[in-house]
Amino acid sequence: MRFISTLLIALTVFAVCNALDLNKPVLDDKFIHNHNANGASWVAGRNPRFEGQSIGDILGLLGTKKPRNTPEEVSVSKVAVPNSFDSRTNWPGCVHAVLNQGQCGSCWAFAASESLSDRLCIASQGAINVTLSPQALVSCDIEFNQGCNGGIPQMAWEYLELHGIPTDSCFPYTSGNGTAPDCQKECSDGSKYQLYKGKTFTLKTCSSVAAIQANVFAYGPIEGTMDVYQDFMSYTSGVYVMTPGSKLLGGHAIKIVGWGTDSTSGLDYWIVQNSWGSDWGMNGFFWIQRGTNMCGIDRDASAGQADISSL
Ligand SMILES: *[C@@H]1O[C@H](CO)[C@@H](O)[C@H](O)[C@H]1NC(C)=O
Ligand SMILES: *[C@@H]1O[C@H](CO)[C@@H](O)[C@H](O)[C@H]1NC(C)=O
Repeated sequence: MRFISTLLIALTVFAVCNALDLNKPVLDDKFIHNHNANGASWVAGRNPRFEGQSIGDILGLLGTKKPRNTPEEVSVSKVAVPNSFDSRTNWPGCVHAVLNQGQCGSCWAFAASESLSDRLCIASQGAINVTLSPQALVSCDIEFNQGCNGGIPQMAWEYLELHGIPTDSCFPYTSGNGTAPDCQKECSDGSKYQLYKGKTFTLKTCSSVAAIQANVFAYGPIEGTMDVYQDFMSYTSGVYVMTPGSKLLGGHAIKIVGWGTDSTSGLDYWIVQNSWGSDWGMNGFFWIQRGTNMCGIDRDASAGQADISSL
């Protein structure tokens, strides 16, 4: 079983790498110039976050894998949601700061720990306001996920329900250089080792726009997934729509915090928080087209509810 899945992953990585020139810089001035001259719905630029990096450097960052079983569509009873919604203004102070995964394929761990941090704050009306430790998922959730080599969002959320994770100040992030320390069961800062959890059996996979909206509206930001194409690395603002012909680099997990409609382009979009630092995109956030399953973003978002009963 383990052998077969390793083989499948190896084959997929090979198939992707085979078509790419790994040594080429990921930021491409000619692409940026042409893109911006064409009046697209988003603006491209040289993101300082990826200055000097090659396509090969980026492949290691994109660590999200699809779950083995096809996710089940969650039936959504017609929940009325507003036309535009932003968790940051709806629950002030509960959407935590933009983080930076560094050169480690740990996006799956960031989007999972971040969505639980926000959901704890929202469920407790601000009483539990902590930034949870993505490092704990990278280093401790190693039975089904692979640390800096990637993970599956649903498996990460199952770990949050079964075991929980401490705060980021208890187990700080040090995997930015691509290596994971051993799982740590006491706090670096000397505080009490307290685990924060998701409520058991509440994990849902949302595979439609309506299901994602209903879940975010009820509980807060959700872990989403998308395919990343090379053009996305030079996103700076606006509603991202994949440029035809751009090369697929890999799978990525992010946190969907809301939605809206852009008055300039007329496009519906998701508001998404990335984990590439706050100097990428719009202060660490981006908009991506909603309703056309752009890069797969409308079909595979997942999270459970926060467990505040024992805190
Ligand atoms: C949570 O803590 C952050 C950082 O200290 C603060 O900016 C934010 O306002 C707090 N949120 C709430 C709901 O109190
Ligand atoms: C990454 O950083 C950790 C902690 O600072 C260190 O122990 C490790 O050797 C570093 N690994 C690499 C590949 O630089």
